Amino acid sequence: MLEKNQFNIPSISEKKEDSMEKLNVETRIAVPEEWEKLRDFRLNLLDDESGNSYVANSRQVREIKQRTDEQWKDILFGKDKFSVLALKDSEVVGMGRTEKKKGIWHLYNLGVKNEFRRARIGAKLTAIRLNEIKMRGGKEVHTFISKRNVPSLKNAESFGFKRVKTLLGWLKNLMILDDVNNPITTKRIEEILNER
Ligand SMILES: CC(C)(COP(=O)(O)OP(=O)(O)OC[C@H]1O[C@@H](n2cnc3c(N)ncnc32)[C@H](O)[C@@H]1OP(=O)(O)O)[C@@H](O)C(=O)NCCC(=O)NCCS
Repeated sequence: MLEKNQFNIPSISEKKEDSMEKLNVETRIAVPEEWEKLRDFRLNLLDDESGNSYVANSRQVREIKQRTDEQWKDILFGKDKFSVLALKDSEVVGMGRTEKKKGIWHLYNLGVKNEFRRARIGAKLTAIRLNEIKMRGGKEVHTFISKRNVPSLKNAESFGFKRVKTLLGWLKNLMILDDVNNPITTKRIEEILNER
């Protein structure tokens, strides 16, 4: 039997052979008209991951479920915000949200539908967002990832994010990329965006 926090996470040995290309999945920046699809995907993912407190704790889930349509639209596409999605035919199978606060960009809400994981969709949604941040002249990028969320941590680390060593950073699960233009990040973005 799977222990708490283990379900839905394929191990490295379960890595799929299917590439995004083979699965025929499109990834791109979302347009505001797609807000309902993104909302539904996010709510379904929260239900699917409901045992995984590191995706969202119960207080956050309550808050998310109470959002009005206007709040959803603002969170996904308001000023200095953008969202990305992965589409299989017309179904959303992955998403991510991005927001600039006080000059610092933040990556939020990365999620890929369970059956589509380990096909580099999460990496592509990360690369698209970091590339867009670069194009918008951004530099420092933050993201919050639980120390127990190995897939998400590994993905962030592959782009050069580092765990913050201060107590506050540690408690808040903060990961930082000092400069999105650094060579390691740039190389990983190019590798993932050019992947077939
Ligand atoms: C985290 C998540 C988005 C990753 O999406 P994914 O499409 O499966 O990830 P990718 O196939 O693009 O993998 C990208 C990198 O992440 C790491 N990774 C992904 N899954 C992994 C796993 N099960 N074990 C170890 N590393 C993993 C690897 O470094 C991988 O790079 P590689 O392909 O060069 O080895 C997905 O597991 C998910 O939706 N989890 C539930 C929601 C969640 O935890 N979101 C993040 C909240 S902070």
